[in-house]
Amino acid sequence: MVQQEIDRVLGATPLPDAGTIRNLTHLGYVMTEVERMQPAASLLIRVTTEDVELGGYTIPKGWLVMHSPAVSHRLERVWSHPDDYDPERFNAERQEHRQHAFSLTGFGGGMHKCTGHKFAYNELTIVLAMLFYEYAFELADPPVRPRRLS
Ligand code: HEM
Repeated sequence: MVQQEIDRVLGATPLPDAGTIRNLTHLGYVMTEVERMQPAASLLIRVTTEDVELGGYTIPKGWLVMHSPAVSHRLERVWSHPDDYDPERFNAERQEHRQHAFSLTGFGGGMHKCTGHKFAYNELTIVLAMLFYEYAFELADPPVRPRRLS
C-alpha cells in the first residue's frame, strides 16, 4: 500500500515538496506505527519538584521519575492488539492515539516535547519516499536485529 502510494504521489514529480508530504498519508501511518512499536528514546526521565500523588502513590519531591514509551506504547487499555503491527490504527476513522492524553510519546510530551518532531517526520518522509521510489526492497531473512552494546 505504501509503495503504491509513493509511486502514485511521486509519479509526476519525483522530487517531493510540501504537497507531496501531505499526500503520503499511509507512509505517515507506517512511520507513526514504527514510532509506537520501536520508540528511539525508550526512557524519559524527570525529577519531581514537589510531592506528586499518582495512582494511589506519593512520589516525594526530588525523586527521579522514569516514563518508558516502550512500555506505554504497548498498553492494552490504550491500544488495540498493541503487539500487532497495524499502521491503520492511526487513520482518520480510528485515531487510536487521540483516545487518551499522552498515549504516543515517542517524541516526549507536554512542554518539553521534541521541538524537532515535525522536522524529523518531514525529513523521514522525504528520505523514505525517495528510497522506495528508486529501489525495490525485500525483507532480510533472518530479520536483522540491532546489536546492543553491553
Ligand atoms: C527521529 C528523530 C527524533 C526523535 C526520535 C526525537 C526524540 C525526542 C524526545 C523523546 C524528546 C523528549 C526528551 C524528554 O522528554 O526527556 C526530544 C526532545 C527534544 N528534541 Fe528531539 N527527536 C528527534 C529529532 C529532533 C530534531 C531533528 C530536533 C531539532 C531540529 C530535535 C530537537 C529536540 C529538542 C530541542 C528537544 C528538547 C525539548 C525541550 O526539552 O523542551 N529533535 N526529542
